[in-house]
Amino acid sequence: MTDRYAVIGNPISHSKSPLIHRMFAEQTGQDISYEAIEAPLDGFAAAVERLRNEGYKGCNVTVPFKSQAHEVASILSDRAQIAKAVNTLTFDTERILGDNTDGVGLVRDIEQNRSIKLRGKNLLLLGAGGAAQGVSLPILEVGANLFIYNRTAQKAQELSYGLQVFLNRQIVTKHGLNYGLPNYINSFTELSAKKFDLIVNATSTGLSDEMIPLPDSIFAPGALAYDMMYGRETPFMKFARDHDAQVADGLGMLVEQAAEAFLIWRGVRPDTSPVLEVLRK
Ligand code: ATR
Repeated sequence: MTDRYAVIGNPISHSKSPLIHRMFAEQTGQDISYEAIEAPLDGFAAAVERLRNEGYKGCNVTVPFKSQAHEVASILSDRAQIAKAVNTLTFDTERILGDNTDGVGLVRDIEQNRSIKLRGKNLLLLGAGGAAQGVSLPILEVGANLFIYNRTAQKAQELSYGLQVFLNRQIVTKHGLNYGLPNYINSFTELSAKKFDLIVNATSTGLSDEMIPLPDSIFAPGALAYDMMYGRETPFMKFARDHDAQVADGLGMLVEQAAEAFLIWRGVRPDTSPVLEVLRK
């Protein structure tokens, strides 16, 4: 019998997830269906309940429901706890498992698709909202030196502090970590004294065509500027190009986060490169 999956969001008609998952299924020979479902803004929990009752195996969750999905889950992965947001739900008979594959998606796009090893690299994360929270733990787990900078400095501090508390608990329970603690940057002046190998834009500035003001000297030689948005050049990407940095959009992350969800559900990791190639066209 075909196992059913879906993505829930609002709006959802633009979603590339059905296409991506169908290509994964074809490539791996998995018998699944995957559809896009638009839930009313006040109807996310009801939509999840309906899918469970109808025997769906799981769903992806996108804007604006990721934090509601965090509430709905009965068990959360570490990365979903830190993110306070869930993009992948898996239904078993009694429980709803919540995970967040965005951070792994970002890391895999940088490390596998772009052949940049993050361990030991200085990575600046711009933003401290849901998108930044979603990727912070996997960035630390691969050993990057994480710096968080946000327009509202207090939120960067809170995200950094939350990660530290979480990691300190891990150190106690798992007897040591082989990666460092996060740092936050308090001011533009402090930022101006540093250079970064990678800068990841996790702010929502691309949506409004705004730019988070950055010092001209911010890029280390050969640096990569990564915007988690895709579909068009954002002011951040233009800034990076004007400063001779390498530039990436978030399309690879989109495909990689989907692959990670597919792996969770089906136990097979699809090859993302042919799928990314189709989407780039
Ligand atoms: P998301 O879920 O997309 O992360 P969010 O939680 O609303 O959305 O967070 C938006 C992020 O973009 C925040 O870090 C926000 O900064 P503030 O915390 O100071 O609000 C950042 N952001 C949005 N517009 C911005 C702008 N014009 N300049 C700089 N940062 C901006």
